Amino acid sequence: MSLDDGSGLIFPQNFLWGTATATTQVEGHIENEWTDFVAQDGSTCRIACDNYHRYPEDIDWMSKLGTNAYRFGIEWSRLQTRPFGELNRKELARYVDMIDGLRGAGIRPMVVLHHFSNPLWIHAQGGWTTRATVAAFTDYVTKLVMVLKDKVDLWNTFNEPDTYASLAYVLGGFPPRENWQLIKFRKIIQNMASAHEEAGHIIKHAGSPLRPMQVGIAKNWTFFHAFKKLSPWDRLIAFACHSTFNKFVLRSFLGGARREASTFLGLNYYGRVRFHHFDAMIPASGTPSRRLKDFGFVCDDMVERYPQGLGYVLNYLHHKHRLPIYITEHGAASKDEAFREADLISYLKVLHGAIQEGVDVRGFFYWSLLDNFEWQFGYAKKFGLIEVDFDDPNLARTMKPLGEVYQKICRSNACNLHETGKMP
Ligand code: FCB
Repeated sequence: MSLDDGSGLIFPQNFLWGTATATTQVEGHIENEWTDFVAQDGSTCRIACDNYHRYPEDIDWMSKLGTNAYRFGIEWSRLQTRPFGELNRKELARYVDMIDGLRGAGIRPMVVLHHFSNPLWIHAQGGWTTRATVAAFTDYVTKLVMVLKDKVDLWNTFNEPDTYASLAYVLGGFPPRENWQLIKFRKIIQNMASAHEEAGHIIKHAGSPLRPMQVGIAKNWTFFHAFKKLSPWDRLIAFACHSTFNKFVLRSFLGGARREASTFLGLNYYGRVRFHHFDAMIPASGTPSRRLKDFGFVCDDMVERYPQGLGYVLNYLHHKHRLPIYITEHGAASKDEAFREADLISYLKVLHGAIQEGVDVRGFFYWSLLDNFEWQFGYAKKFGLIEVDFDDPNLARTMKPLGEVYQKICRSNACNLHETGKMP
C-alpha cells in the first residue's frame, strides 16, 4: 500500500519499529570476558554509554524517536555469579524496572539472552565448547523466564551465533581470540543450537498471560560473492563461507525437530562481502576505502551495502522456514548522515516490497539506539540514531539527523521516499 500522493510506503498495522543494543556495548560496569578486552582504538567497554545508570534517559530517547519496541540484552554475568546460583535480586530489580519503564512508555521489550558475551565462570569452564554450558544456560533461562514471563513476550535466545563462534574461535577477533579452531566452531554452534532448543521450549511453555510467547534466534545473513565471477578460488571461498555461516548454522538451529523450539526468525542483515584475490573487500577487514571506491563498491564503515539482497534473503527464509520474521538488526556506521539516510530508505524500500510479496515480516529494529562500543573496533564506528559524546564525563546524548528521519518513519508507520537522496 502507498501513501495518497504515491510518494511513500505504508507498513502493516501493528508493525514494530524499534531500536537495538547489546549489554556489553552500552551498559558499562560489566564483569564479563569483554571487561579486559582492549579494542583496536585502545578503548574498553568498561563505561561504554553508561546505560546501566542512564536507562531512564535512554527510554525517553526511544519515546522521542517514536519507537514502539526495543531489543536489548540481559547480562547473564550480572545475574548469576556461579553455575546454578540464585539470580542476583538487585540486578534483576534493575532490569525489571527498565522493562516496566519501557512498557509504561508503550515500548515493547524484546529480550536477548546471549549477545557475544559470557560470564567469567562460563569462560573458565570452556565457554560454549562444553555441554556443561548448555545445562548452566538452561538453568539461568528457566529462572529468568519465571520472573519476566508476565512482562516480556518477545525473546531472542542467541544473537548471531555464527558471528560469535567465527570471531572468537576462527578469526581471533573476540575473546578468547583463538584462530582456525574449526572443530570448536562446529561444537559451539551445536551446543548453542541445543541450548536454543531447551530455552525455546521453556519460553513457549512458561504459562505467561502474554500469550503467545515468541522466541527465536537472530541470524546474521551476509551474502558472500566472488568479485570476479570467473575466479575459481574466490568462488570457492565465497561458497565455503555461505555453506558454513549461513546454511550450516540455520540447519543446526532450525533443522528437524528443533524447528519446534522457534516461533519466529530474527534476521540481522547489513550487506555483502565480495572476495577478490582472497581478500574480503570490506572496510571491516582493513581494505582501504579508496580501493573500495575504485572498484565501485558502496560501503559504510563496515561492509558493502547490498539492499536488494534483503529481498532475496527474506524470500528465501520465508519459503524455506515458514516462520514470521523480525529484522532484528540493520544499520549503517558512518559520520555521513546523508549516506545513512539513503541507506536506511533503500533497505526499507526493499523490505516493504518483500512484505507486499507476502513475506511475513513483523518488525524492524535499527542498529543502534546509541553510538556505542563496537566490539574489536571500539567507539569509532558511529551506528547510533542518538549521538553519545564519549569525551564528555556526562556522556551527553543528542539526536542525530538520522534520528529525526527514523522518528518520522516510526510515527507515520510509513517511509516517505521524497525525503531521501540516492545512495552516493
Ligand atoms: C552485529 C552485532 C551487533 C553490532 C552490529 C554492528 O553483527 O550483532 O552487536 O556489532 O553488528
